[in-house]
Amino acid sequence: MKKTLVILVAIAATALLQAGAFAAEKTPSEKGGPKWLYVTPTAKPPYHGVYDETMKCIDCHSYDGVDAYTSATMAMKKSVKGSMPRKEIEEAIAEALKGRGDHREIFVLATAYENKPLATVIEFVLDPKTFTFYAISEKQTEKLFQMDSNPNVSMAYVRHRTDFDYFGGALGVQIVGKAKLLTGVTGDEAEFIEGARVYLPTLPQPVPTSIQPPPLEDMINMMKGKKVITKVTPERIVILNRSFKDKGYHAVQIWTPEKKK
Ligand code: HEC
Repeated sequence: MKKTLVILVAIAATALLQAGAFAAEKTPSEKGGPKWLYVTPTAKPPYHGVYDETMKCIDCHSYDGVDAYTSATMAMKKSVKGSMPRKEIEEAIAEALKGRGDHREIFVLATAYENKPLATVIEFVLDPKTFTFYAISEKQTEKLFQMDSNPNVSMAYVRHRTDFDYFGGALGVQIVGKAKLLTGVTGDEAEFIEGARVYLPTLPQPVPTSIQPPPLEDMINMMKGKKVITKVTPERIVILNRSFKDKGYHAVQIWTPEKKK
């Protein structure tokens, strides 16, 4: 009898614990997120990034009343010291994503549908003049439906390496932006052509014959209504390159588009 009681109590306790865990998952974070997610700035590690002398630890290591989710990244922007000039950031991003010189690289693209994320491996070509990304897809893939319903996307580029020096030689690019699906037949012809002109020359071209390769404009016309061009306009690009530190900068730098006047 005593034994049964013990088992019953144990089961009840487990059920309560599970209910507790479930409740914790459902409770929205307090403003600024939970305290435990912040660094307790007691001692500064020797590899800590540089910042202005006038700043206090707490300027970066506490909720700043804006947006906890972005202020972690924006901590880098709070200090003038350590920030790379905009032009240098742009050059570093274009350099990291240059591929074989054509700015074609492979990324992970994150889309979201009904609050559920999907990560897809996909090639994009960067137009280094406009900082716009283009991809060409077959119709009817999952990511296209996701982006049609929700244009908010995020992309990540990582350099796969053979030396496995992932920490010391860290290099990554994270992009947040808006995606637009272009068909070339639904009033978006000019944008479609613009994207195709950036993207198509990076594809392996057929061996030229008397009739091939088809001129670029013919290829674009053939694609209209058949392929989908995904145009991603970045709202924020974060680049991590450990070698920036050698120049006295933060390893992480943030690029945002220039505000339209
Ligand atoms: C300009 C903003 C800024 C200021 C000021 C600042 N920090 Fe930081 N600190 C950061 C950022 C950003 C990171 C995260 C770095 C990263 O991405 O690894 C960080 C990371 C840390 C870490 C965690 C390192 C790790 O690897 O876990 C500690 C500890 C820390 N800071 C302590 C301090 C202390 C102590 C001070 C004041 C003496 C201070 N910080 C001032 C921005 C700042």
